[in-house]
Amino acid sequence: MTDRYAVIGNPVAHSKSPWIHAEFARSTRQDIEYLRIEAPHDAFARTVGEFRSASGRGANVTLPFKEAAYRYCDEVSPAGRLAGAVNTLAFAPTGTRGDNTDGSGLLRDLTANLGFSIRGRAILVLGAGGAARGLLGPLAGAGAAQIVIANRTVAKAQELAQRLSAPSVEACGFDALAGRDFELVINATSAGMGDDAPPIPKSVFRKGALAYELVYGRDTLFLALARSCGAATADGTGMLVEQAADSFFLWRGIRPDTAPVIAALRAT
Ligand code: ATR
Repeated sequence: MTDRYAVIGNPVAHSKSPWIHAEFARSTRQDIEYLRIEAPHDAFARTVGEFRSASGRGANVTLPFKEAAYRYCDEVSPAGRLAGAVNTLAFAPTGTRGDNTDGSGLLRDLTANLGFSIRGRAILVLGAGGAARGLLGPLAGAGAAQIVIANRTVAKAQELAQRLSAPSVEACGFDALAGRDFELVINATSAGMGDDAPPIPKSVFRKGALAYELVYGRDTLFLALARSCGAATADGTGMLVEQAADSFFLWRGIRPDTAPVIAALRAT
């Protein structure tokens, strides 16, 4: 029988996950079906329960349910615990296991696809919401020399830095970035979703820096700013596909080749 998976979110109509997982299934010859499920805002657990009863084997979880998914799980991976949020659920008769592949997907895109090694680097993360939370543990774990979390609401950045309790992590507001520069600048604010950019000084991009925008498929103001400062740029397409490949691996025990899927998404 065909194993069933789904992406659960609200809204979910725009999600590329069904297409990505169908490509993975085809290339690895796995017999799976991957659905798109919009859960009502107040009924995440009920929606997951119904999908399990309808022989769901696992699910990806997207906005705004990653924290609810964390609470739903019987067992959570270290990355999920650190983030307090999960994007991957695996259902077993004994219970639900949750994992967070956002950080590992970003790391793989940076290192395997973009040739950027994290170890010893000075990194600036813009934003302290759910998106930033999933990335910081893996970045710190990969040996960054310095991670600065800058956020509009400084208290949120401070809280996040405290949770990580790594000596290399500090928090500040955007105005405190004057006179500092970094080798990697990641935009994890939701400013890129609208027509806005976090108010950062141009000097944050060290010569040869990489600017990474988590939003995918859109030339945001953050990317335009980075380009105007001479930085190399990347959008979140690679991370989107790599986090999906990590979920696929957790479910199926096989990691698909991501390069053709990234190339196809970029071409659309
Ligand atoms: P997500 O899960 O996508 O991270 P979130 O938890 O709502 O969403 O967090 C959004 C992040 O983008 C926050 O860091 C937010 O800053 P505040 O904590 O001060 O709200 C940041 N953000 C949103 N719009 C922004 C803007 N126009 N300029 C700068 N930061 C912005």
